[in-house]
Amino acid sequence: MEIKLRLEEEKDYRLIEELTREAFWNVHFPGCGEHLLVHKLRKADEFVKGLDFVALYDNKIAGNIVYAKAKVKDNGKEHTVLTFGPVSVLPEYQNRGIGSKLINHTVKLSKEMGYKAIIIYGYPEYYKKFGFTASKEKEITNSEKKYPAALLVLELYPNALNGIKGVFDEGAIYEINEKELEEFDKEFDKKEKTVTKSQEKFMETATKFL
Ligand SMILES: CC(C)(COP(=O)(O)OP(=O)(O)OC[C@H]1O[C@@H](n2cnc3c(N)ncnc32)[C@H](O)[C@@H]1OP(=O)(O)O)[C@@H](O)C(=O)NCCC(=O)NCCS
Repeated sequence: MEIKLRLEEEKDYRLIEELTREAFWNVHFPGCGEHLLVHKLRKADEFVKGLDFVALYDNKIAGNIVYAKAKVKDNGKEHTVLTFGPVSVLPEYQNRGIGSKLINHTVKLSKEMGYKAIIIYGYPEYYKKFGFTASKEKEITNSEKKYPAALLVLELYPNALNGIKGVFDEGAIYEINEKELEEFDKEFDKKEKTVTKSQEKFMETATKFL
């Protein structure tokens, strides 16, 4: 089966939100908020339209990746970097290389666009194959000046972050408001919120510091 990528179009928006919800439901905590995040990101100033890709598997939409501009704040100076997420693949299409293709393609485009780096929160084991390393190596912290194990950095050209260190700020857009989520979720099919094993792994990763 062939995996094809193309830019997301407005006609895909609702389907991609449903897909995102399917991919993340009960994965990190009971329910999920990533479909609201995608919904809001597209309207935000930080949104990078040229990196918003959908993946088609056998001509059916099976995955999506969304990028936003973020900042590294260094003693009053602000450096623009990219962040991505959510990256979503429908459960029935996972482990077929779709996520990898979406990431590899958009990383390549990000380089061509001239960005310095991509900084994300994610599973270190999954993202190391794309070249992401712990943010601690680059002295980039979270807002509490700590080094979360899940904070990962990919320089997009050699020494791109030389002389740049500080606090990673992904922007308020990534904060999910519970009330807003509850309302937004009513627009989708009812799904049961449950406790799962993957939530344990998520909590373990999210609470680990280097
Ligand atoms: C994570 C995700 C985008 C990967 O997409 P995918 O198309 O399944 O990934 P690929 O087929 O390219 O890669 C699969 C490989 O990644 C590994 N992998 C997937 N999720 C992983 C995770 N959370 N941690 C470590 N490895 C992971 C698989 O075990 C598999 O390993 P293998 O190649 O050694 O067999 C997809 O599984 C997904 O949407 N998951 C739910 C939402 C999510 O967690 N998104 C990422 C948030 S950080």
